[in-house]
Amino acid sequence: METKVVSVDNAVDTKGSYERAVDILRSGGVVAFPTETVYGLGAIATNEQAVQKIFEAKGRPSDNPLIVHIGNKEDVKKYAVGITADAEKLMEEFWPGPLTLVFNKIPGIVAPNVTPGVETVGIRMPNHPVALCLLRELGQPLAAPSANRSGKPSPTEATHVYEDLSGLIPLILDGGQTGVGVESTVLDMTIVPPVILRPGGATQEMIEAVIGPVETAANDTASEAPRSPGMKYLHYAPEAPLFVISQDEEEIRIAVDTLQNEGKKVAVIGPDEFNVSNADWYFAVGPIYDNEAMATNLYRAIRKCDFTSADIILAVETDLNGYGVAVMNRLTKASEGKRYSN
Ligand code: TXA
Ligand code: MG
Repeated sequence: METKVVSVDNAVDTKGSYERAVDILRSGGVVAFPTETVYGLGAIATNEQAVQKIFEAKGRPSDNPLIVHIGNKEDVKKYAVGITADAEKLMEEFWPGPLTLVFNKIPGIVAPNVTPGVETVGIRMPNHPVALCLLRELGQPLAAPSANRSGKPSPTEATHVYEDLSGLIPLILDGGQTGVGVESTVLDMTIVPPVILRPGGATQEMIEAVIGPVETAANDTASEAPRSPGMKYLHYAPEAPLFVISQDEEEIRIAVDTLQNEGKKVAVIGPDEFNVSNADWYFAVGPIYDNEAMATNLYRAIRKCDFTSADIILAVETDLNGYGVAVMNRLTKASEGKRYSN
């Protein structure tokens, strides 16, 4: 299969690009498209065969539910029940935006493989002009996980989607680099108080400012059945082993020296200001303490490591303010919990 990449940024033939995307989706195919968080790989959420193609293209385990994307807030009522007053407030405040709300589903509407094994459905309205235009032209919901091969970092640029899925999907709508850079926050609204199943683009502070206290799901351990099934798989991993390291310039330089003395080539992911001139590669992810910038740039930096011959990657940790929670959640997964200390 040939994968076409069409720019919908300032494209001359934008209308034609959406028409092509809608045609593919209506005929049961998949299309990659940008959202404000990461690129998604969409199929019409009520079409089981179409959704099956998402799992095949991604190589994704089929017990992991998909988020349903809608183009209008009111559509949530077509798929979910138990929409509480708090949920209404959250939708008012965050939609369109990086917050996925998990509700009890109305049975028999979204395809069974969108919500395998669960009685709930995760829904969000993405805040990206291309995603919204596509959803509205289509007039139907899109089931869409991140458009990466399973296990790889989520794509924040169309080229990332192409690297992973070229030959496996017919079309990528290229809307440039995504803004938020980490996936949406997944919030379980079926329990009181609601529980954050996955930290993401809407922070706990932002959510609590609207509805008061929420809980955070205990970080999944192998023994515990994860509440957000996706959290149990290896995620966001580069090819070389990744270790989290303290935000300490001197410690990093020493670590690089030590590793190089063992004959290893070292890539470092860290803040703009650090001077780690002994590193074989240094990928800057924004000003120190700017966790929002780090979220935007993290996946691209991890992917860049795959284009080096690094034997080991050291990723500088950040504090847990704002987007820091989501950033550290992804780094913990990419490192499988490994930390480097001298
Ligand atoms: O920002 C995002 O959320 C991106 C863009 C494309 O919208 N999508 C995304 O999808 O990250 P995916 O499939 O890579 O991650 C969805 C996460 C998984 O951890 C999954 O387990 C969880 O959401 N999830 C989806 N539906 C759920 C449900 N009904 N109950 C619990 N967790 C659910
Ligand atoms: Mg994903």
